[in-house]
Amino acid sequence: MLPGYICLSWIIGVNSVAATSSENLNLDPFCPLGYFPCGNVTKCLPQFMHCNGVDECGNHADEDNCGDNNGWSQQLDKLYEKHYEKIGMNFIEFDTKAEECLLGSVPAPCLCRGLELDCDGAKFRTVPAVSSNVTMMSLQNNILRKLDSNGFRQFPDLRNLYLQHNKIKTVSMYAFRGLHNLTKLYLSHNLITTLKPGVFEDLHRLEWLVIENNKITRISPQTFQGLNSLILLVMLDNFIGRLPDKPLCQHMPKLNWLDFEGNNIHSLRNTTFSSCTTLTVLVLRKNRISTISENAFSSLTTLDELDLANNRIEAFPPTLLKDVKELSQLNISHNPIQKIPTDQFDFVLKLKSLSLEGIEIPNIQRRMFMPLRNLTHIYFKKFQYCGFAPHVRNCKPNTDGISSLENLLASIVQRVFVWVVSVITCFGNIFVICTRPYIRSENKLHAMSIISLCCADCLMGVYLFVIGYYDLKYRGEYNENAQAWMDSMQCRMVGSLAILSTEVSVLLLTYLTLEKYICIVYPFRCLKPGKIRTVTMLVLIWIVGFVIAFIPLSNQAFFNNYYGTNGVCFPLHSEKPESTAAQIYSVIIFLGVNLAAFITIVFSYSSMFYSIHRTAIMATEIHNHIKKEMTLAKRFFFIVFTDALCWIPIFILKLLSLLQVEIPGSISSWVVIFILPINSALNPILYTITTRPFKEMMNQIWYNYKQRRSGGSKNSHKAYSPSFFWVEMWPLQDISPEIMKPGLYTDSEMSFSTQTTRLSCT
Ligand SMILES: *[C@@H]1O[C@H](CO)[C@@H](O)[C@H](O)[C@H]1NC(C)=O
Ligand SMILES: *[C@@H]1O[C@H](CO)[C@@H](O)[C@H](O)[C@H]1NC(C)=O
Ligand SMILES: *[C@@H]1O[C@H](CO)[C@@H](O)[C@H](O)[C@H]1NC(C)=O
Ligand SMILES: *[C@@H]1O[C@H](CO)[C@@H](O)[C@H](O)[C@H]1NC(C)=O
Ligand SMILES: *[C@@H]1O[C@H](CO)[C@@H](O)[C@H](O)[C@H]1NC(C)=O
Ligand SMILES: *[C@@H]1O[C@H](CO)[C@@H](O)[C@H](O)[C@H]1NC(C)=O
Repeated sequence: MLPGYICLSWIIGVNSVAATSSENLNLDPFCPLGYFPCGNVTKCLPQFMHCNGVDECGNHADEDNCGDNNGWSQQLDKLYEKHYEKIGMNFIEFDTKAEECLLGSVPAPCLCRGLELDCDGAKFRTVPAVSSNVTMMSLQNNILRKLDSNGFRQFPDLRNLYLQHNKIKTVSMYAFRGLHNLTKLYLSHNLITTLKPGVFEDLHRLEWLVIENNKITRISPQTFQGLNSLILLVMLDNFIGRLPDKPLCQHMPKLNWLDFEGNNIHSLRNTTFSSCTTLTVLVLRKNRISTISENAFSSLTTLDELDLANNRIEAFPPTLLKDVKELSQLNISHNPIQKIPTDQFDFVLKLKSLSLEGIEIPNIQRRMFMPLRNLTHIYFKKFQYCGFAPHVRNCKPNTDGISSLENLLASIVQRVFVWVVSVITCFGNIFVICTRPYIRSENKLHAMSIISLCCADCLMGVYLFVIGYYDLKYRGEYNENAQAWMDSMQCRMVGSLAILSTEVSVLLLTYLTLEKYICIVYPFRCLKPGKIRTVTMLVLIWIVGFVIAFIPLSNQAFFNNYYGTNGVCFPLHSEKPESTAAQIYSVIIFLGVNLAAFITIVFSYSSMFYSIHRTAIMATEIHNHIKKEMTLAKRFFFIVFTDALCWIPIFILKLLSLLQVEIPGSISSWVVIFILPINSALNPILYTITTRPFKEMMNQIWYNYKQRRSGGSKNSHKAYSPSFFWVEMWPLQDISPEIMKPGLYTDSEMSFSTQTTRLSCT
């Protein structure tokens, strides 16, 4: 079979297929938003069940129409692709059934079957002389340079003529004379620059004219004179700079399919298509169209597909589509469109597929897509926009990495771990808050700072808890609620809670570190911080935290929706255009305040360690000081390491987004759920649970418990009374046993202990 025939029969096929499938697609207006009806059964299913491979409707209606084959041109493209693939492989297209040659003698390299002649790749410079009753002639991949006058006149029965991949530069005015029965003419991949008016005059029966990939710069309606039966005109990838002002289809009354993809057309005037009343497909993709007259499409009352993708259109005339009422597929992707009027699509109610890829729609609202009840496929630049078309079965992209159409948290792992991390964080911190006051030897001011830190970290747990709760609440129908959720006060509050938590935590850690640092590096200036000073610092830190967290809520106009840019309400990753204020603000917070704090912590711990290392070497000769230093180093390393683990990814993310690198949303969501809470979850362990006083207290409790059970004397109790040389930073198991027992200190250990006391210094 020849590709043309396949195609034509396919078009006929599609017409009937389209007719039948559209019946199934009739959206029941009684299905709620976010749901689609099950064909002719009165049942509504949520959007995500569409095309999930499971027949939930019972009649397979939910598994119907999964691919977007609303447009024809895509299918044609596919067909062409196949066709050219065959040519590339030197595949000879013939009827498979071997037929005897009815053309008499044919030139040597040619193949002949029936009345068809195939001379592909035969190195011919001219049209071969064969019997006049040939009906198909294929001369692809030859080196024809010119089509002479009356070159095919001796073949009046010719129906299909394939002249692709030659070097044809000039087509004589009378080249196709006498071809009254020609239905398909292919001239693709040649070097044709002009087509003279009237060149196709005799081709009254021509249905297909494919002039792809040539160098044609201009056409006029006269070029197509005589093509009374033309259905399809493809002039892909030429250099046509402008379409004629005169009615283009004037001589092609049956033209159905017009493809000008990949030319240099820069404007569409109101007269060009005025005579193309039977057009169903118009492809103007990949041109330079910047201006479109308001009435450019007003005659295209039967247009089914319009492709204006990859042009330079900044604004559509508001009434551009008012007369193309039959349109079912519209592609305006990748145009620098500034604004889409709310009622832009009000006229094209039969639209089934709408492509708006690569288009920023700052004024997007549900109202825009609401009238398009039959819309089944919609393509956006951003996942967030899908929330504005909840009735559309198929919306792409279907995730921003964080959320999917169904769930606030797209990944099951995240959905589970948001709870796990939340519980760990909350529990650890609440545990410390409750037990800290019972550590006897505890410096009360230090305890206050630590409890403060735990309160801040606990807020992170609360934040994750709320996210987990809303994920649960919107499970399966997130798409419907996405916008409302992101715009809601809850989202803003919970987002600012997360920021409050991180900022207070960061500032407190810095404060604690600096305090220790000053004690150790400048031991003589190490004064016990007064109660007033500590309380003032803590209050100050909380106030700063609140200010940082709530400033973005204060001015809507300035910050837009600072927190509600994604489903997790954390301003780390934004698909929406941020206002400049919001952008600057989040850079100041993340790359200013937090980075400075992080560097301070790393620097302080490094120089603290260095300082201890030096004094230890000077003050002691005992063997195990190396071991002790190792322990100390391990602990310092751990504190700095967890900080780094938490903050370095965030700094990198923020920096990359500042450099406009595309960051997959999934990375941001993993950061928010796993990395951000690392500090909050580990701080209670690092600063309390593994410290010596805490362990001593636990030992004490355990000891008391055992004593009470065995009824032993109270004297031995003293052995475990907390040492005054306790080391805040010191894990119990790493201390050699003699240190734990008071009264057994050697001189050197005393000196070591005094040092370490300086370390704790609180
Ligand atoms: C629904 O359509 C299917 C075919 O698509 C048909 O077999 C069935 O009888 C129809 N059911 C009703 C209730 O119309
Ligand atoms: C085609 O033309 C040749 C002579 O050129 C003749 O011998 C042959 O019979 C013709 N075939 C048909 C099917 O008309
Ligand atoms: C065109 O084809 C028909 C048969 O389909 C034939 O009868 C007619 O003679 C042909 N016309 C020309 C001009 O060859
Ligand atoms: C086309 O636009 C011109 C002005 O640009 C106007 O004069 C003319 O009436 C319009 N024609 C139609 C058919 O709208
Ligand atoms: C719309 O056009 C864009 C850009 O050419 C293309 O990538 C996309 O596949 C088209 N969409 C449809 C539904 O054809
Ligand atoms: C939606 O499609 C159905 C079936 O094709 C049609 O009957 C109905 O009129 C369409 N709705 C609109 C608003 O065009």
